[in-house]
Amino acid sequence: MENFTFYNPTQLVFGRGQLESLPNLIPEGVNRVLIVYGGGSIKRNGIFANVEKKLKDHGYEPFEFGGVEPNPRLSTVRKGADFCKENSIDFLLAVGGGSVIDATKTIAAAAKYDGDAWDLVTKKVAPEDALPLGTVLTLAATGSEMNAGSVITNWETNEKYGWGSPLLYPQFSILDPVHTYSVPKDQTIYGIVDMMSHVFEQYFYRPTNAPVQDRMCEGVLRTVIETAPKLINNLDSYEYRETIMYSGTVALNGMLQMGTRGDWASHNIEHAVSAVYDIPHAGGLAIIFPNWMKHNVDVQPERFKQMAVRVFGVDPTGKSAQEVAYEGIERLREFWTALGAPSRLADYDIDASQIDLMVDRAMKRGPFGNFNKLQDEDVRQILEMSL
Ligand code: NZQ
Ligand code: ZN
Repeated sequence: MENFTFYNPTQLVFGRGQLESLPNLIPEGVNRVLIVYGGGSIKRNGIFANVEKKLKDHGYEPFEFGGVEPNPRLSTVRKGADFCKENSIDFLLAVGGGSVIDATKTIAAAAKYDGDAWDLVTKKVAPEDALPLGTVLTLAATGSEMNAGSVITNWETNEKYGWGSPLLYPQFSILDPVHTYSVPKDQTIYGIVDMMSHVFEQYFYRPTNAPVQDRMCEGVLRTVIETAPKLINNLDSYEYRETIMYSGTVALNGMLQMGTRGDWASHNIEHAVSAVYDIPHAGGLAIIFPNWMKHNVDVQPERFKQMAVRVFGVDPTGKSAQEVAYEGIERLREFWTALGAPSRLADYDIDASQIDLMVDRAMKRGPFGNFNKLQDEDVRQILEMSL
């Protein structure tokens, strides 16, 4: 393992009815709370009304800022930061999925910064301060509820980047699986693909001797593989929603990656695709990740073999490591396809016409990937395999 320190200050409040504790979780001295949300799902399913009532009943002055898009945009973040400054907001409450939480995080930092929010996202400037924030999660997917990362798209320049700062950790996150009952089938599938992808990103690393991390990753993956098909056929099951919700948080709250750093190239390539075509993040991952795997089998066939055997139960008898690896990758592809995830960029009507632009956007910050450093040509090949 590499040396590491680990600190995650987010208070996780998990389970049925946990919204009750909201007033106790908001820090002392806060009065003006901005509820940040997306396209309106929380107004339709009643979560907004419940949150607003809890705040009013306990003497807080709630404000609202809606309209955060999936793949949240810089233009929206800028408006949110201005709103905070103009209304002297002192606490942000993100109520939604990863997009709402990510936008809230960047708004929190931009509200305390005099320059443009893009400086923060592009890491030109490190934030020195941020408004405090909490979350009420409504979609199991990104893990943003318990990490310090935020992914923002600049639609004018077709750039989508992740950035982070310890200042962006939510102070608390309320996770009630009931809040995810209204998530439609397609978004539920995307969430499952995203959390599995987060585990895969962390499973492919270079340091040696991280058996605890391996087993934790495999445990999360096997649990999701076991639960996901049941959930897809029974979207109102508390038990399945609960398992998937907790899996999503564990998959990206830093626990799995201690001492290893992970790869993260597939995410980088997907961000370039959705920066150009605005497709759902995990739709892109479902297409790209198995192709990243195929492209990289020869870097360390044994690692892929381990995944195939331990996660997908492939029988290795009499086969080479490569053969077992490819069989495992095929099982993954079949699993995602059976759930209903896309498998080709053509499923989103994406053809080869913008490959140069996507390669350029993916390479903007230089060669990437900790398991295998990818160059222009690698990215192009993976995208071409994905068409
Ligand atoms: O906008 P509303 O109306 O709320 O509808 C949303 C949106 O249309 C809907 N939804 C959410 N909760 C719902 C619901 N519909 C009905 N009932 C509910 N309870 O679902 C749609 C998708 O929401 P979104 O927040 O975009 O999905 P997700 O959580 O998958 O977030 C995706 C974003 O997170 C970024 C992605 O790049 C993408 O921009 N990521 C953030 C990460 C992080 N911060 O750690 C890591 C990830 O890898 C990822 O890159
Ligand atoms: Zn992701």
